Amino acid sequence: MNKKIYAPIKITLEKDKRYAWCTCSHSEKQPFCDGTHRAHEKPGSLGFVAETNNEVWLCTCKHTGNPPYCDGTHKTL
Ligand code: FES
Repeated sequence: MNKKIYAPIKITLEKDKRYAWCTCSHSEKQPFCDGTHRAHEKPGSLGFVAETNNEVWLCTCKHTGNPPYCDGTHKTL
């Protein structure tokens, strides 16, 4: 059985734009929500608004201690 490899995704956020970060890991549009959590009866997305235009690394493993941002926890999974 293959172990799933997680890595953060680099995203350029736009100031004042609202984003929905996937919390359930089932979205096909990682790291963002595509509504798939409803079919899996999982909690919804985490909404946030970018405060600046900025490049960030968003978590895909869903174990970060600082959602939606990668904090390196994926390296311990
Ligand atoms: S991808 Fe790095 S903490 Fe989740």
